[in-house]
Amino acid sequence: MELKYRALEGMNDVLPEQSHLWQYVEARWRDHMHQYGYREIRTPILETAELFERTVGETSDIVSKEMYVFQRGEERYALKPEGTAPVVRAYLEHGLYSAGGVQKLYYITPFFRGERPQKGRYRQAHQFGAEIFGAAHPLADAELLAMVMGFFQSLGLPNDLLELRLNTIGCPMCRPAYREGVRNFGRENLERLCKNCQARLERNPLRILDCKECFQITADAPPIDRYLCEECRTHFESLQGLLKALDVAYVRDHRLVRGLDYYTRTTFEVVAEQGLGSQNALCGGGRYDGLVEELGGPPTPALGVGIGVERTLLILQALNMPLPEPPTMDAYVVAFGDAARPVALQIAQQLRATGVPTEFDLEGRSPKAQMRLANRSGARYAVLLGESELQQGTATVKDLQTHEQMTVSQVELTEWIRTRL
Ligand code: HAM
Repeated sequence: MELKYRALEGMNDVLPEQSHLWQYVEARWRDHMHQYGYREIRTPILETAELFERTVGETSDIVSKEMYVFQRGEERYALKPEGTAPVVRAYLEHGLYSAGGVQKLYYITPFFRGERPQKGRYRQAHQFGAEIFGAAHPLADAELLAMVMGFFQSLGLPNDLLELRLNTIGCPMCRPAYREGVRNFGRENLERLCKNCQARLERNPLRILDCKECFQITADAPPIDRYLCEECRTHFESLQGLLKALDVAYVRDHRLVRGLDYYTRTTFEVVAEQGLGSQNALCGGGRYDGLVEELGGPPTPALGVGIGVERTLLILQALNMPLPEPPTMDAYVVAFGDAARPVALQIAQQLRATGVPTEFDLEGRSPKAQMRLANRSGARYAVLLGESELQQGTATVKDLQTHEQMTVSQVELTEWIRTRL
């Protein structure tokens, strides 16, 4: 068949064979969020393009190269390329800060980035996100990281296959000097840097630190520790102490600066050592203490994480982690002859209404064909209705595992099946 329309490159359909796995990880995420006191927030897919330009940053790859932007009337819109800026926008718009204290919000969202698609990297992908507002203390960073590692563990992923990479990138007080230090380092090594890094060195020098091509060279870049102000240093030290106390293993990665401009202090990623190939970051996040204020709100420390849903599913499958089977039917109602079909449909409806997943043939097939489908459906019971059952107000119930057959009155049927499942 010559197909005229296909899904766009990098945008995936989730087919029924896979969707129960999505439901499974989504349910795990919701449970996990509940354990930690997060409440769900849902924001629109479209926002003004400016929201992301102001927050993720105009020079970031996400905004400058990957964002889907379009104009309609006067307004420029963007398909959300990430989840944090919209949540901050909603937090301000609805005055969630006025409740005072700490607010913990979570979401499951699609996001859009026009990257070159490959395994684990798509143009529409999905994130589990969690954001904490109003918590400046390193306890919040520690709890967030323990929560993230706990989530992977709850899916059966052994933590020793994962590496939590941790860094601090300072604050507006100390980062300018650090940026200058990295810029000077870049200038001294300009010839050795890749073309891309040479071009962005002046505008956004920290980006050279996470360039894979320049990895060897930037190993010698000055570490942030030389530049951190006292408060950032203390914050980072307390966080590391708390992680040790919680037994959350991490490695220090002084080049982990992240590709979004809103971060301050703590940054982190979790990478998988197996199962994901080159797109091995399962999640990324950090603090963004200046972002709420940047968007016009009161000074509000904040932090969060985004976990790739597709990558989570990919690694669970690659490592053969325990995953649920697709749900099956419990009953299959088989009509013997046309006269029995309306009653059979009624009985199927009664079973469904009492919570018994029930299949019923919608094509008017022969009894033999229906029995074949019943056996294939995975249902435990076939409910057979023929002329004699109609006359006697009964049904023949066949246990498809043991092949036993019994006669049950139609009045008692739903209860009979329900109690045996
Ligand atoms: P991010 O690091 O850009 O952070 O994305 C988070 C995660 O989304 C990545 O670690 C990866 O698992 C997944 N991901 C990113 N791009 C793609 C893609 N093209 N295809 C498939 N998966 C992808 C953020 O978006 C921040 N908003 C995270 C955050 C929340 N920071 C603070 N709060």
